[in-house]
Amino acid sequence: MAQIAVIGAGYVGLTTAVCFSHLGHDVVCADIDEAKVAQLTRGEVPIVEAGLEAMVREGLEGGRLSFVLGAASAARAAEFAYLCVPTPQGDDGSADLTYIEAAAREIGPVLPSEAVVVNKSTVPVGSTRVVERVLGRDDVVVVSNPEFLREGSAVHDFLNPGRIVIGSDDQSAAVRVASLYIGVTAPIIVTDPASAETIKYASNAFLAAKISFVNAIAAVCDAVGADVKDVVLGMGYDSRIGHEFLKPGPGFGGSCLPKDTRALVHIADDAGYSFDLMRGVITVNEDQFQRVAAKIREMAGGSLEGVKVAVWGLTFKARTDDTRESPALRIVSLLTEQGAEVQAYDPAVKGPVGGVVPANDPYSVCEGAGVLAVLTEWDDFRWLDFDKVAGLMETPRVIDARNLLDKPALERRGFSYVGIGR
Ligand code: UDX
Repeated sequence: MAQIAVIGAGYVGLTTAVCFSHLGHDVVCADIDEAKVAQLTRGEVPIVEAGLEAMVREGLEGGRLSFVLGAASAARAAEFAYLCVPTPQGDDGSADLTYIEAAAREIGPVLPSEAVVVNKSTVPVGSTRVVERVLGRDDVVVVSNPEFLREGSAVHDFLNPGRIVIGSDDQSAAVRVASLYIGVTAPIIVTDPASAETIKYASNAFLAAKISFVNAIAAVCDAVGADVKDVVLGMGYDSRIGHEFLKPGPGFGGSCLPKDTRALVHIADDAGYSFDLMRGVITVNEDQFQRVAAKIREMAGGSLEGVKVAVWGLTFKARTDDTRESPALRIVSLLTEQGAEVQAYDPAVKGPVGGVVPANDPYSVCEGAGVLAVLTEWDDFRWLDFDKVAGLMETPRVIDARNLLDKPALERRGFSYVGIGR
């Protein structure tokens, strides 16, 4: 079993740390946030992520997992150091490597000889080389091992991956990294660092393209009177197309897809290729926020001035408490800009976010509302008392931006219903 340092206790770092300790390795996870380190040491997890808290406790109690302040203290005894720090979007759309470089600078002088540094954060193509330079160590190899974790099911995805991608020019370092995934069954792709880094961007960009494609098809369905649910069902049975990632909605959001699509356009531009297809994917996504806001305005009778809009869902998708780059927040701000009074509820968001102070229950936000907008696909919303909702609203009208609700059942209760592409 190996000694692993994980630098960064965000959702990627924390998942990586607890899953490696679950597989039997000794893991020290470092963060720069003192309060977070103390909280994790008590076995408390600051994010909503299925199974994570139980596994943090399992690791702490088994003595195979600990949390420390600062990367250097974690790296001193490490055979492997996983870099899981953020790569936020810089002002020009490119990925900002400040945190990665700072972590590499900190661990460079203290890493044991023959250690392997692993880039898990999504980094621009060529970053493996950047980390090598910053580390300044001939006896340490840098390997790329990108993550493909979905928020909400990150632990499951780590332990049951579709594939494990390892990018290294050093075969023996690649084999050492592969051997860490003991007990995990998945195809392992060993390639060069630039290809591994590109696999990560290309995968996220392709997923984003599928979503923008289906959102564009939904717009066509709206225009021609087709039902997008049946259209995607009919498409998905073609095994070359598949059923996944073809749900129309308010656009893609979150901490990865928006940032990675912009970064890929930037990477391509820098390399002399104008990635117009990806620009189109981003434009369709930005337009989707506008399209949903316009549907709400139309349903309110053409103007949002003084209209009370009830919003259900603020997170970027269900089963997470994450509101980063959430389409719901983008739509809420478009509504308030046009004079609407937004009252919002989300099962996982309790504090103020993006200028909204969420209510404690889904019904109170419907009081006096002229339109109800469903912006996140929380299952809870399907089973609410819609007779009660209709009674509370000024007019029972719903825009279902996730095609989540039962349209005929709502219409029977007197609602006007508009979905996306149906
Ligand atoms: C994504 C990738 O799936 C994961 O592999 C990568 O490592 C990180 O980025 P995540 O950000 O957790 O994961 O979200 P994901 O489940 O992919 O959803 C992204 C966005 O697309 C959400 O806003 C979601 O609501 C939206 N979406 C997804 C759709 O609108 N339609 C779909 O069919 C699927």
